[in-house]
Amino acid sequence: MKDVFDILSQIDAPQVLDIATGHGEFVFILKEQLGSYQHISAVDSNAQNVNYAQSLFPDEDIDVYRMNPEELAFGDSSFDMVTIFNSIHHILNWDRVGSEMLRVLKPGGILMVTEMYQDGQQSEAQRTYINVHHWIASVDRSLGIYHQPTFAKEQILALVEKLGLHRLQILDYYIPAGDPHQAEECRYMRQRCMDALKRMEYLDNADALRSEGENVLAKLETHGCVGARRLLLWGYKS
Ligand SMILES: C[S@@+](CC[C@H](N)C(=O)[O-])C[C@H]1O[C@@H](n2cnc3c(N)ncnc32)[C@H](O)[C@@H]1O
Repeated sequence: MKDVFDILSQIDAPQVLDIATGHGEFVFILKEQLGSYQHISAVDSNAQNVNYAQSLFPDEDIDVYRMNPEELAFGDSSFDMVTIFNSIHHILNWDRVGSEMLRVLKPGGILMVTEMYQDGQQSEAQRTYINVHHWIASVDRSLGIYHQPTFAKEQILALVEKLGLHRLQILDYYIPAGDPHQAEECRYMRQRCMDALKRMEYLDNADALRSEGENVLAKLETHGCVGARRLLLWGYKS
């Protein structure tokens, strides 16, 4: 993460927008690590997430809004930096969201994407993280929630290249963790698995999916679980 922090520390972006902010994990990072900013806006389509994130940021210079990223309620060229963190695989219409992100970005502004990937060199504990993530995505889909498996590196690159950014740069990184059984992600993903098993209680014909969940949980107990490798991609709007 040090490399990511170094990159952020060199960016001065007065007006920042974070898309699909969830619980605002990236807003925390932006707030702490950007060289400078004046105001951060964050949006998410899920009301619960927005309420939660709003409660985390009483700061006057951070606002969280409920908003569909396919129709951002901001004027053209409103932001110096637009970010999307670990969320592309949740987005149904990337072309539309990408074009909205570019519309609200000022010419010369920075667009930054971070996304975990499923291929490449991953440790057993990272593979477990990916397996758990994919199983939760399957549960979401069987409940009618759009959630794709995570992408391969080349797929992420192709999606970002479509945006036509200038001077596109890429960092391939992961957050080093100590004992994968004690890692925060291990506790978090175990809890998410338990929640997903509960959420699917009333699903019919879900025995195979349930047993797949029990298998990934067993894998998590055997190997532990740490965050998968990610790509950070950033470039400039012409
Ligand atoms: C994995 S969370 C990422 C949250 C945050 N960026 C982070 O890394 O902590 C994905 C977010 O995408 C939002 N989301 C899901 N479907 C969406 C959609 N179709 N359009 C926009 N956002 C969506 C969800 O509400 C969720 O908060």
